[in-house]
Amino acid sequence: MALWAGRFKKELDSKTNDFNSSISFDKRMYKQDIEGSIAHATMLGKQGIIEISESEKIIKTLKEILNDLENGQLQFDMEAEDIHMFIESELTNRIGSTGKRLHTARSRNDQVALDIRLYLREEGNNIIDLLKELTAVIIKKAEMHTETILPSYTHLQRAQPTTFAHHLMAYAEMFMRDIDRMQDVIKRMNINPLGSCALAGTTHNIDRYLTSELLGFDGPCNNSLDGVSDRDFAIEMASALSIIMVHMSRFSEEIVMWCSWEFKFIELDDAFATGSSIMPQKKNPDITELIRGKSGRVFGHLMGLLTMMKAQALAYNKDMQEDKEAIFDSIDNVKMCIYTFIPMLETMKVLTKNMENAAKKGFINATDCADYLVKKGLPFREAYKITGTIVAYAIDNDKTLDMISLEEYKQYSDLFSEDIFEAINLINCVKLRTSFGGPAPEVVTKHIELIKEKLNNI
Ligand code: ARG
Repeated sequence: MALWAGRFKKELDSKTNDFNSSISFDKRMYKQDIEGSIAHATMLGKQGIIEISESEKIIKTLKEILNDLENGQLQFDMEAEDIHMFIESELTNRIGSTGKRLHTARSRNDQVALDIRLYLREEGNNIIDLLKELTAVIIKKAEMHTETILPSYTHLQRAQPTTFAHHLMAYAEMFMRDIDRMQDVIKRMNINPLGSCALAGTTHNIDRYLTSELLGFDGPCNNSLDGVSDRDFAIEMASALSIIMVHMSRFSEEIVMWCSWEFKFIELDDAFATGSSIMPQKKNPDITELIRGKSGRVFGHLMGLLTMMKAQALAYNKDMQEDKEAIFDSIDNVKMCIYTFIPMLETMKVLTKNMENAAKKGFINATDCADYLVKKGLPFREAYKITGTIVAYAIDNDKTLDMISLEEYKQYSDLFSEDIFEAINLINCVKLRTSFGGPAPEVVTKHIELIKEKLNNI
C-alpha cells in the first residue's frame, strides 16, 4: 500500500507504477541515502526533535540495513517507487513507529538532491584518480621519447618537426585541465541541500550546519527553493565529462591513424586489439574506436540534461528524476573508457624509425630554412617566398631539402652557405626549438618535471 493511501481511494495503476518508479536505477545510491539518513537522524536527536534513544535506534537499524544490502541478505524491492521509499519502509518494517519518525523535517525532494550530490562527489573523485593514473602513464611514455622525432601536422599535412614526447605532453596538459575542471565541479557541488525539506524549509528547529559537517559539505545551501531545484552540478559534471571525452576521442582518433599501415607509428599490444572474422591479416584498434563512438552518448546526455531542466518552474518536478540515468551513464562510460585506455597506452609499441622516416618527408624543415635566411638578415616574408620556390624545385626534382646542393641553394639567395645543412637537420630543428612550451628535449623534460610535481600535489 502506498504511503499516501490516506489521500487516495485507489492503488496506483501497475503500469503507471512501473513508469513512475526509479528504483531500477537509483538503487545504486543506497549507500548515500543511508548516510544522509544517519546524519539527519543524528541531527534530529541532538536538536531534541526526536528522542535520543529513537535517533540511536534509527541509526543502528540503518547501519544494519546497509550491511544486509552489501552482503546480499536484503534485496531491493523493485515494487518500491524509489530508493528513498525503499529504505524508509525497510526501516519501518524493522522498528515500527520509531522508523516513522525519520522523515520529520525532511522531504524526498531534499533527500534526492542530497543523495545525488553525495554520489556524484564520490564518482567525481574516482574520475580524478583515473585521470591522474592516465596522466602518469602519458608522462612515463613521454620520458622515453623526448628525442623521438615526429612530424607534427596541421590539416593532417606534415607541418613542422616535433617529438613524440612533445605530442604526448599536449594530452597531459588536456587531462590536467580535466582534473582541474572536475575539482571545480566538486567544489560548487559540495553544498548541502538537506533541510530545504519539500521546498520551504521547516518550522522544526533543525541544524543544517551539523548535517553539513557530518556529510563533509562546505555548508548548507542558502535558499531552500534553490536547494531542491538545482541540478546545475549534474549539468556541470556532464559538461566536464564531455570535455574529457573530447580529449579521449581525439587521442583515440590519432591512435587509430597511427596503427594504420599508412602511418605505422605504433603497434598495439595483442591484448588490446582485435582481429577480423573474415580477413586473417587484420589487427583492429577497436578500443579506441569504441571510445571515439562513446563520446556521442556522453555529449548527448549533456544536451539531455540541459533540455530536461530548462522549462521547469521552481521547485521540484518529477522531470528531475531523469537526471540520474543520464549522468550515471556518462560516469560509467567515461570511467570504462579511461580504465581501458590506460593499459592500452602503457603497452603500445612506439615505432620510432617509422616516425623519423615520416618526418624526413613532407618538407617539415621548410620553416627552418626560411628562419635560416631571416637570421642572415632577410625579412621573413621574403625568406618565406624564396623557401617556397626551393620547395617547388625540390618537389619537381623528387628531392628533399637536405638533398639539394649548396650551389643549387645559392641560385635562390647569396645568403646560403654551408651551415644551411645544419639548420635544416631534423634533430637540430627540434633541439633548437627551445622557446617556452616548445619541443626541444630540455624544454619537454622540464615540462614533464612540472606535471609530475603537480600530479603529486593533487
Ligand atoms: N525518485 C525521485 C527523483 O529521482 C525522488 C524525489 C521524489 N519527490 C517527489 N516529490 N515525487 O527525483
